[in-house]
Parts: sequence; C-alpha cells; structure tokens
Amino acid sequence: MTLVLGIESSCDETAAALVTDGRVILAQAIASQEAEHAPYGGVVPEIAARAHAERLAPLIARVLDEAGVTLADCDAVAATAGPGLIGGVMVGLVSAKALAMASDRPLFAINHLEGHALSPRLADASLAYPYALLLVSGGHCQILRVEGVGKYRRLATTIDDALGEAFDKTAKILGLGYPGGPAVEKLALEGNPKAVPLPRPLKGRPEPHFSFAGLKSAVLRAKESGQYSDADLAASFQQAALDCILDRTRRALAEMGEVTALVVAGGVAANRTVRAGLEGLAAEFALPFTAPPLPLCTDNAAMIAWAGVERLAACFPADPLDFQARPRWP
Ligand code: KG4
Ligand code: ZN
Repeated sequence: MTLVLGIESSCDETAAALVTDGRVILAQAIASQEAEHAPYGGVVPEIAARAHAERLAPLIARVLDEAGVTLADCDAVAATAGPGLIGGVMVGLVSAKALAMASDRPLFAINHLEGHALSPRLADASLAYPYALLLVSGGHCQILRVEGVGKYRRLATTIDDALGEAFDKTAKILGLGYPGGPAVEKLALEGNPKAVPLPRPLKGRPEPHFSFAGLKSAVLRAKESGQYSDADLAASFQQAALDCILDRTRRALAEMGEVTALVVAGGVAANRTVRAGLEGLAAEFALPFTAPPLPLCTDNAAMIAWAGVERLAACFPADPLDFQARPRWP
C-alpha cells in the first residue's frame, strides 16, 4: 500500500488528508476560514495566511492521529505549491518541505488545478484518461482535456472573472454575503430564470473561452433599476451563467477529440442546476457524466494527496526542497 499526506492552503481552507493508492481517504480535516472573511465579502490574503499558519500543524497532527499512522508510514508528502494566495501557499509548502525533510520522504509540489483535475479519479476508479474536465471554482474557469498525470491540454479559460467569482459578486450585489454560490443557488429556487433579460457573454464565439464580467455588471444594473425581485435576479443570473457554460463546453467538446467522459470539478460543481445542465450536455455527446462528491469538489487536501499518489504510481521524481511557491501557475 502507498500512503500520501496531502496539504492544501491556497485559498481560505486549511486542509490535510491521508490517502492510499487504493483510493481510501484514511483521514482528512478541513478548517474553513469563512467566518474570518465573511465581514469583508471576500478572502483577505493577510488574514488567510495567518490563519493557515495557526491551524495547519495541529490539523496535520490530527489526521495522522485519526488514521493511527506516523509520518514514517507515509510514502510521500504532497502540498499545493500554487497557484493561489502566495502567503497561504507558502505556509503549506514550507510545512510539507519540513515534514518531507524530517522523514526523508519525497516532496511533491502540486499544482492546485492538477489536484482538482485528478480528483474525479480518486472518487471513481473506472474513470480512464483522456477525459474532458470543466473546472469551475472561485479562482478558475477552464476546460481541460486530461490525458494523463501531468498531461493536460487547456482548451478554454476565462478572459476575466471565474464562474465562482461571478456567483460571489452576484451574491454581494444581492446582499447575500460570502461565500455567495450556495446562497445564490438557494435564492434562485424561488425565482423565475426568465424574468430578467441578461447577456450571455461570448456565446456562439468559435473559441470556447469564458467571460463573466459583463454578466455581473448587467446584474448590478438590473438590481439598481429596482424592477426585479432578488429571487428573479438570482435565478436569471444562474440561468445566464449556465447557458454560457453549456455553449462554451459544447464548443470545446466538439474540437477536443475522443474522450471517455465529461467531468465537472471545482466549487461551482456543487451547484445542482449546473450539474443537471452538464448531464444533459454529456448525453448530447453520448458521454458518461460524472462529478466528484461535493466534499471533493470544493478545496480539500485529499485531492492534493491523490495527485501525489498518481505521481508515485507514474514514477515521477520528487520535487526539490527549494521548489518555490507560485502565485500564478497555469
Ligand atoms: O473550488 P473552491 O472551493 O475554491 C477555489 O479554488 O476557488 O470553489 C469555491 C467557489 C466559490 O466561488 C463559491 O461561491 C462557489 O465555488 N460555489 C458555488 C456553490 N458552492 C460553491 N457556486 C454556485 N453554486 C454553489 N452551490
Ligand atoms: Zn480550488
């Protein structure tokens, strides 16, 4: 059995997990900083870095304890090395370096997006390469062809906001607080998705890229007009966003070549309307549709540990102990 300790600290979740090559999560712990950032309507980098520094060590001790193992039982230490808020990434990566050095185990410096991209394989042993991945989170909005460990072809990205960011900004406009995605989804249930005329940025364009800034501005103008209820605004925003995703993903699938499945990952994959829409789209292409279970969709350390497991299995060399944290890492 191979066992990897994973660490995640790139945004506002401090997380540690122990994952085996048999796809068993022996233990995991996540400390959310939602309460600290809520008063500011978004993540404050300095507060995030301090909170990671305070919480990470006890969290790692807790998962080792819960799993009844020690560092010596681990075959590698994997940590998010970027992209993300640099202060937080450094806390996680430096901790991982120290643990790897002390236990004489290989260090894997994992790209956070790679964690999201491979997480569906942790949940589903039958998911084979290559698969189409729509990665929609607070910081990212991409369509990838996942061809193997370390082999990702990006077909689309956002030219401005990420989809989760658009949900969060819409929530702010509607006074729903942070994080906004779940609140917008809940309010949208009471509204009419056709009530507010909103744009579908880039819909129909040949390149499958995304844009959500114009949609958010349109929601703001509609709110300021005083003509619509908040529920109608939420439902109409969600519908417009979904229409954009479906149009863009349809275009990407058409030019992607053969894939085994359509997969959605990232925090917005928790949205039921988004999932249902994508399920329909997959059916159009006669593809199976999967989404990792919700706790694996949002930021977590199990996906980072799993990326380490996949690297070990593929005989990747360890990363050097002077590997630098990267705020940007496409
Ligand atoms: O993957 P994630 O936990 O962190 C990042 O790497 O960004 O994603 C968080 C994002 C936030 O923008 C949040 O509002 C959004 O995912 N989100 C949702 C839902 N749950 C989380 N957006 C729409 N509907 C949801 N149910
Ligand atoms: Zn993420």
